[in-house]
Amino acid sequence: MYWNEIIEQTLNTTKANIARFQQQFPHVSHGDGKYQLMNHTDWTEGFWSGILWLSYEYSRDDLFRQAAIASVHSFIDRLEKESHLEHHDIGFLYMLSTGAQWIVEQDEAARKATLQAADLLMKRWRPSAQILQAWGPEGDPENGGRIIIDCLMNLPLLYWAAEQTGDSKYADAARIHAEKSRRFLVRGDGSSYHTFYFDPETGDSVRGGTHQGFRDGSTWTRGQAWGIYGFALAYRYYRDPAFLDTAKRMAKYFIAHLPADQVAYWDFDAPQTAGEPRDSSASSIAACGILEIIDHLSADDPDRTFFYSFVERSMTALVDGCFAGGGGEKAEEGFLRHGSYFVRGGIAADDFVIWGDYFFLEALVRLTKGFPGYWYERPN
Ligand code: GLY
Repeated sequence: MYWNEIIEQTLNTTKANIARFQQQFPHVSHGDGKYQLMNHTDWTEGFWSGILWLSYEYSRDDLFRQAAIASVHSFIDRLEKESHLEHHDIGFLYMLSTGAQWIVEQDEAARKATLQAADLLMKRWRPSAQILQAWGPEGDPENGGRIIIDCLMNLPLLYWAAEQTGDSKYADAARIHAEKSRRFLVRGDGSSYHTFYFDPETGDSVRGGTHQGFRDGSTWTRGQAWGIYGFALAYRYYRDPAFLDTAKRMAKYFIAHLPADQVAYWDFDAPQTAGEPRDSSASSIAACGILEIIDHLSADDPDRTFFYSFVERSMTALVDGCFAGGGGEKAEEGFLRHGSYFVRGGIAADDFVIWGDYFFLEALVRLTKGFPGYWYERPN
């Protein structure tokens, strides 16, 4: 396959981006092929660090390592100040930055910071509702009892902390949260709610809903992809077959509801018609999640071929339909066109989104080198 050539092109883009972005972090674009740059105010900064670490591990070019290390310093500073960290996306931020530095080169300061990040995420554990609260302060009338499917990708920080410290409190909370997510966010046909509300005092289930999806009962494609990958990772840690079964059911729903050209629309229940925004990032996240599922299937499991041929088809579709090429300085700054951040909110529909780029590269590196991203320690 030609995946190596595609990775080489992403490396060109990333080299040009290192010079362009300096100490700032790409977030989403707004129609001009350029990334809006942030400085530690959002949930997305870790994806740039993750791209730098993956680029370094793939190429061994020290330019990427130096840029990755420089980015990690600013994550440690953010943590010291607890700045813009009043939400559950601490896992996205810290597994791909300080966590990655620990995984790649066993840096002690990076390990310490990653554990500190896990402790901060644990402050969102609500014993009465038995959930990790996604957004807002404790007692928030709208969000006090609310979970979000995306949180499944923040739980790996807690699995990692449990392994590192031997303290089961991280894994116990994460397991209850993952189990509640499995029970209430995933529907019988393998589709999913984006969010679910519980009574914050009693933990009683209230209702499913959405924030970024088409409507409350719809299936937001990126949420479905977070679920595929998140439950596969929960299986990796807990070895509970229910998590793997859920990841597989969600993957099969995702695959069965794609359009003929294989690039996901932004919501499975939005009109699947020309002009409706796609979300290429949902496709790249799902590819990584399905590669994780494949890791847990036995050699003679018929789902192996089914899932693997889907990943090849889907990645080929992303390259053919969305890849911006690696033109260097004058080219667009992202890897994958046609991502969508928040279609109903009018933010970056049909644009570059940095997490789409990260997961596209993660999938390519998994396909070529066989090593995963930074959601868990490398298996021996
Ligand atoms: N975790 C936020 C999003 O997927 O947009």
